[in-house]
Amino acid sequence: MTAEPTVIVPARAPAPASTTPAKSGTPPHLTNWPLIHNMPDFLTPLLTDTFYLYYRNLNRTLGPIMTHFIFDRVENYVSDPTEMKRILTSKEFRRNDFFLKVTPDVFGYALFAMETGPVWQKHRKAIVSGMGPQFVRKAYGVTVDLVQDLTRMFDAHIVNSEDGSFVMNIREYLSLLTLDVLTRVAFSHDMNCLQGFDDLKSGKDSVDKRSVQLRTYVDEIGRIGIYRTFVPKFLWGFFKISETDVVPITTYFDAMINEFLAPRRQKAEEGEEEESESDLLTPLLKKTEDGEMLFSDKEIRDECMALMFAGHDTTSNTITNVFLQLCQHPDALKTLHQEIDANYPPDSTEFPRLDELSKFEYLDYVFKETQRTKNILMGLDRVVASENMEMLGYKFKKNDYFSANLQTVFLDPQYWGPDAEEFKPERWINKEVVDGTFMPFGAGQHMCPGMKMAIMEAKVVLIQLLRTFDFELIPGQKLELVDGIVCHLPNGLELKVTKRREE
Ligand code: HEM
Repeated sequence: MTAEPTVIVPARAPAPASTTPAKSGTPPHLTNWPLIHNMPDFLTPLLTDTFYLYYRNLNRTLGPIMTHFIFDRVENYVSDPTEMKRILTSKEFRRNDFFLKVTPDVFGYALFAMETGPVWQKHRKAIVSGMGPQFVRKAYGVTVDLVQDLTRMFDAHIVNSEDGSFVMNIREYLSLLTLDVLTRVAFSHDMNCLQGFDDLKSGKDSVDKRSVQLRTYVDEIGRIGIYRTFVPKFLWGFFKISETDVVPITTYFDAMINEFLAPRRQKAEEGEEEESESDLLTPLLKKTEDGEMLFSDKEIRDECMALMFAGHDTTSNTITNVFLQLCQHPDALKTLHQEIDANYPPDSTEFPRLDELSKFEYLDYVFKETQRTKNILMGLDRVVASENMEMLGYKFKKNDYFSANLQTVFLDPQYWGPDAEEFKPERWINKEVVDGTFMPFGAGQHMCPGMKMAIMEAKVVLIQLLRTFDFELIPGQKLELVDGIVCHLPNGLELKVTKRREE
């Protein structure tokens, strides 16, 4: 299949200098009741973990800018592509750290949620310096090794089964695979979570039982983090999001982090760190010219915790969504199989090289189309940095809260056609993408530094698994995404796996 690269076209012509003054009122909103504000409308989505759908519908019904009131939070949601791009790329906005402020016992410092400013800049510089092309190359080698291990595990389950099939939850495997990739590449430490998990599944007494707890804890931290941003502190106990509820989770992660961090920290203090293999700990463990550690112990611990989240939960949930879409769209799967067989023939034993992954164009469309239709992030938050700001005819002031509502615009028929809600990878062939309508990795100074790694990982995993196995959806599952740090399937994705049949 040959295709021209995706073209970006401007969202709309720059507006002529306005002759009408901005309105001073509030953008469209639901009835703002005294004391309880929008709580009557918000309660159901909050309790069912589906407020990403709620905000999407509000932007659809109230327009490209709308305001939402919850207790002392006044939030503006925007679904106009030009203004969303402005929110993410212009100096008129900055990210604030309200997520970290409510989770000091979990993250405290985390590049992905840090306030735009000098501390963020110091962390960003350190992390990005370690995430160049050599990082992606290392990640490619590790991913190929681990996905081949995974293939052997699936093969063994099939061989040991009575009917040549077995049922598993793909998100659990992908979650542990991507965590193993991340820790091997970023921290030069083998957690061996994937093997530990499969040993337990196979009834073997694994040396490492931690992997079983991981999914529950990751999802629980997501829930706690999100709830704490909405729920007033006096209700934290009721929602089981208090400091006490978090202790078992942080104890679990601290033990994990300490395993690789303690020996490296000691090396750094003894001045031997430079000689060790370069990874993301190397810049974090650097000393200043005065011989002081550049980052505090808490900063380093929190950044490790944050990278473990940003680097694995995002990718594994996205790949899980690709499996879901492919199981529900056999025609797309058939086209993808043809592409995989053409570029990695069944008799070949050599996995495609990193530079050969670009040949898998249809796979690229499948990945993008999954991100468009089942994006894992509802929106990206910022606050106004300048004293005064105008948007879409309304006036705002410093620190007013904004969210660029990604999911609304990813599914807007105005930009994607009347079939916007449908999964159609072919739409990406020669697609002219309107600027600001597709930003799954963000835009501007906070744009995802792990994008190349994530896309590479997804491609390697999908090529290898789809080439080798057939996957079938187990009926009766909940297939609607729910909120968390990332939107995800509430119980993962149960699939029946068999050896791939001839088509
Ligand atoms: C499909 C997978 C992924 C998606 C959809 C994704 C998405 C994003 C988005 C939208 C942002 C911007 C946040 C903002 O503007 O506030 C972001 C930031 C970030 N991502 Fe990713 N990401 C993915 C994978 C990864 C991976 C694999 C890593 C690391 C290995 C990573 C590390 C980070 C970090 C550290 C930031 C914070 C950057 C900053 O604020 O300066 N991400 N990601």
